[in-house]
Amino acid sequence: MDFVGSHILSVSQFDREAIEKVFSVADQMTPYANRQRVTRVLEGAILGSMFFEPSTRTRVSFGSAFNLLGGEVRETTEVKASSISKGESFYDTARVLSGYSDVIVMRHEIEGSVSEFASASRVPVLNGGDGSNEHPSQALLDLYTIRKELAGQGKQIDNLRISLIGDLRYGRAVHSLCKLLKLYNNVHFTLISPPELALPGEYVEALRAAGHEVVESSDLQLNITNADILYLTRTQEERFPSQQEADKYKGLYRLNQSIYTEFCEPNTVIMHPLPRDSRGNANELDNDLNENPNLAIFRQTDNGVLVRMALFALILDITDQIDKHSRAVNWYTAKRF
Ligand code: NCD
Repeated sequence: MDFVGSHILSVSQFDREAIEKVFSVADQMTPYANRQRVTRVLEGAILGSMFFEPSTRTRVSFGSAFNLLGGEVRETTEVKASSISKGESFYDTARVLSGYSDVIVMRHEIEGSVSEFASASRVPVLNGGDGSNEHPSQALLDLYTIRKELAGQGKQIDNLRISLIGDLRYGRAVHSLCKLLKLYNNVHFTLISPPELALPGEYVEALRAAGHEVVESSDLQLNITNADILYLTRTQEERFPSQQEADKYKGLYRLNQSIYTEFCEPNTVIMHPLPRDSRGNANELDNDLNENPNLAIFRQTDNGVLVRMALFALILDITDQIDKHSRAVNWYTAKRF
């Protein structure tokens, strides 16, 4: 895969070699994300950040990643704050905004919208999530986290046992992660969801066709007993026809410390793309797990900065210039790890 100048729209663009490339550049970013060193390599560069759906992690970590490389960020955060609300097409918006930026990250509720936007953009576009379709940077940071967590236990992604739990129908993070894991060998997938929110058939078929074992169930406790990774998700209520319909599925699966202790192997790693829905009627991942050392959710969010820095570095072709433009930090830095 040639990263330089490319759009990142789908994880289908990646093979294992390209994934390894992203991960090795992400590793190289650690001293910058940890505030041990500063680099100004992207001084003068502008990221256009366009989030037309709610976002905290993806929006801020893409922005922070660009800032940490020395670039600046221009944000548009709501449809009503942009001319799309006046009927402007993605084509026109892309033609205009690509004149103001070196690279653009975009999130929008319509599946395929980011690709449509990218086809008119004059600069590289990264998909920050398009409806329930894809979320490539999330899947890359999830896989990077899985790899790191497993390495600590002497395991690899090949032969992984992963349970994906919750809204697998509308969850774009799960969709993209499944496509990436498909590239590895002998992954055992346990898909835990109500039948109405099952992983779409085309994903299940593609995983089976690639030789992976896929078990589907609606029972949580029976299916978390033999897993390296539990990957929980929020009910994607904004994608349901009505709030009432979404509420039917909230709270069906809840992981807390006592269920974890009773049913999981001692080293099972707990992941979630976040946000977790901590309201009483949902609470899929209880706060009583916060001190559990196997809860990897905040390691995931930290890894998001490394992976997003790596994507910018590869697309803008600066990987071998980063260290040349760097120095030690000169302010107090809190210990992050
Ligand atoms: C996910 C998303 O937006 O798809 N969040 C994120 O980007 N970390 C998952 C979700 O919203 O539930």
